[in-house]
Amino acid sequence: MLANLLLAWFAQHARALPWRQSRDPYQILVSEVMLQQTQVDRVLPKYAAFLATFPNLHALANAPTAEVIRAWAGLGYNRRAVNLQRAAQQVMAQYDGQFPRNVAELRSLPGIGPYTAGAIACFAFEQDVVFMDTNIRRVLQRALVGPDLQVAPPERQLLEQSATLLPSGQGWAWNQALMELGALICTARNPSCAQCPIQRVCRAYSTATPPALPRPLRR
Ligand code: ADE
Repeated sequence: MLANLLLAWFAQHARALPWRQSRDPYQILVSEVMLQQTQVDRVLPKYAAFLATFPNLHALANAPTAEVIRAWAGLGYNRRAVNLQRAAQQVMAQYDGQFPRNVAELRSLPGIGPYTAGAIACFAFEQDVVFMDTNIRRVLQRALVGPDLQVAPPERQLLEQSATLLPSGQGWAWNQALMELGALICTARNPSCAQCPIQRVCRAYSTATPPALPRPLRR
């Protein structure tokens, strides 16, 4: 039920963000690294400019690092740009320019942690994998746990529940929709519960309006 409601809402209300039109793992990687530190509105022009300068893995891998850092200006955390280039170089050298498809191999690349590896496997290769970011965590905590627990469940448990709820073959939409709900409706402060597509199955809503959050996750 939760998944049906969420996916129906996403199909109607999702923003047409450029990385959602792409299944190119290079483009997905660039977008995810940018989005880790910067708001969508500020990423949009930087993303377009970065891809214009470095249109593919090969271009990024072979560019002078100083030029990569220059293209990163305004995004902050230059180390992410350096790691991004190192990841591109490693995919060229170790994988003959073809991104590995599984999460474990993706995680072996510089700067790619569990979130980014999951996002590439899901958003580029459309695998039914689950992963966590701040929006996904907040939505799942509110929807599944509610505000009534003293201590939030460990992250592993939320991930297991996400995997259970994920409709088979729809990992891409499931994870995008969780992020989008967290970004547009289930915001950290003043969530728009009146507009929420999963209001009637939300634990937090049924217990308290507006929903509080459980305490920080134990990892
Ligand atoms: N933040 C991180 N990844 C995102 C995505 N794929 N869409 C929107 N916001 C995001």
